[in-house]
Amino acid sequence: MNDTFLRACRGEKTDYTPIWMMRQAGRFLPQYRKVSEKYGFLAMCRTPELAAEVTIQPVDVLGVDAAIFFSDILTTVAPMGMDLRYDEGKGPSFANPIKSKADVDRLTVPDPEETLGFVYKAQKILTRELANRVPFIGFAGGPFTVAAYMIEGTGTHTFSKVKTFVFTQPEAFKALMDKVSRLTASYLEMQAKAGSNALMIFDSFAGVLGPKDYLEFNFPYVKRIITDLKKTGVPIIYFGLGQHGGHAAVGKCGADVIGIDYNVTLDAAIAHLGKDVSVQGNLEPYVLLQSKEQIAARAKDVLARAKKARGHIFNLGHGVPLGTPVDNAKALVDTVHELSRR
Ligand code: CP3
Repeated sequence: MNDTFLRACRGEKTDYTPIWMMRQAGRFLPQYRKVSEKYGFLAMCRTPELAAEVTIQPVDVLGVDAAIFFSDILTTVAPMGMDLRYDEGKGPSFANPIKSKADVDRLTVPDPEETLGFVYKAQKILTRELANRVPFIGFAGGPFTVAAYMIEGTGTHTFSKVKTFVFTQPEAFKALMDKVSRLTASYLEMQAKAGSNALMIFDSFAGVLGPKDYLEFNFPYVKRIITDLKKTGVPIIYFGLGQHGGHAAVGKCGADVIGIDYNVTLDAAIAHLGKDVSVQGNLEPYVLLQSKEQIAARAKDVLARAKKARGHIFNLGHGVPLGTPVDNAKALVDTVHELSRR
C-alpha cells in the first residue's frame, strides 16, 4: 500500500508530502455527478456499491494519497429518530429539530451495526476494490456540529437556535451531546472494524462557540470520543473549523493529526501545537479556481510553512469548492508531490 499518508499521520519520515482534499468525492467531479444525477444523494449514501464507487473516483482521477469514505455527517444520526432529508440546492435538513429536553429524551442511541450497516458493507467493498492502493479514511461529524444541525434543523449563518439552547438549557444540551457522542464513538469504531485506515472527526462548527464555551460544551465530548477510539489503533484526525488559532487546547484532544483551516497560517498553528501531533491543511480552497501558476505558488507557501511540523498531510483549509476545474485539482496534487519530493 502507498502508506505515505499513514506515515505522516504518525509523524514518520516520508519521501514526499501526501495529499488528499476534503470533499474530494463530490460534485466538482463529472464522474460523481453522473452517479448522483441517477440515484440522488441519500440513496448513494445508503447503497454500499455506490458509496464505494464514488469514494474511489478521486483516487483514480486525481492520484491522491488517501481516499475519504463517501457519506455525510448527518446520516449517522438519522437512526436516533431524526427525520433527515437532502433537497437539491438547499442542502440537508431535519423535519423534527430538537427544541426541548423532552426531544432529547426521545432520541435513541442505536447500535450502528444494526442501523448503519450499509456503511459497514460499503467499507468492506471499498477495502476489496481499493486493493491496498491507498488508505481510506472513515469519518463522522463532531458531536457539536451534528447537535447544532439537530437543533437548527437546517444550515444557518447565525446559529441563533443552538446558541440560545446552549445558554438557556445547558443540561439538556449536554444530554444531547452525550447521546450524539456515544453514537459517534461506536459508529467510528465500527468503521475501523470495517477497514478504515484512519478516522476523522469533522467539526465544522467548532468556531461557533467562543473559547470558554467551546471548552465546556464541545471539547470534553470530542476528547472522550477520541479516548474511546484509541483502542482501534488507527490514526485519528480532528478538524475544527474557525477556531482562529486556539490550537493549544485543541492539540490536547488526543488526536494524532489536527486539521488546520484557512483562517490561520500553518506555521503559527504548528507553533501552538508543538511536536506531539501532525498537521493537515491548509490551502485556501478558492485558490483551486485560480491559474495553475497561482496554485503552485500558494502550494509552495503552504509546504514551506509546514517545515517544522512533526508530520504534514497537505489538504485544503476546507472542502473543494463547487466549480473547481478537475485539471486544477489534479495540478495541485502533482505540484505538491513534485515540490515536496526529496
Ligand atoms: O469527499 C468527502 O469529503 C467525503 C464525503 C463528505 C460529504 N460530506 C459528502 C457530501 C464529507 C466528509 C462530508 C462532511 C460534511 N457534511 C460536513 C463537514 C465538512 C464541511 O464541509 O464542513 C458538513 C457540515 C456536512 C453537511 C452537509 N452535507 C452540507 C452542508 C451539505 C450541502 C452543501 C453541499 O456542499 O452540497 C451536504 C451534502 C453533501 N455531503 C454533498 C456531498 C458530496 C453534496 C450532495 C450532492 O451530491 O448534491
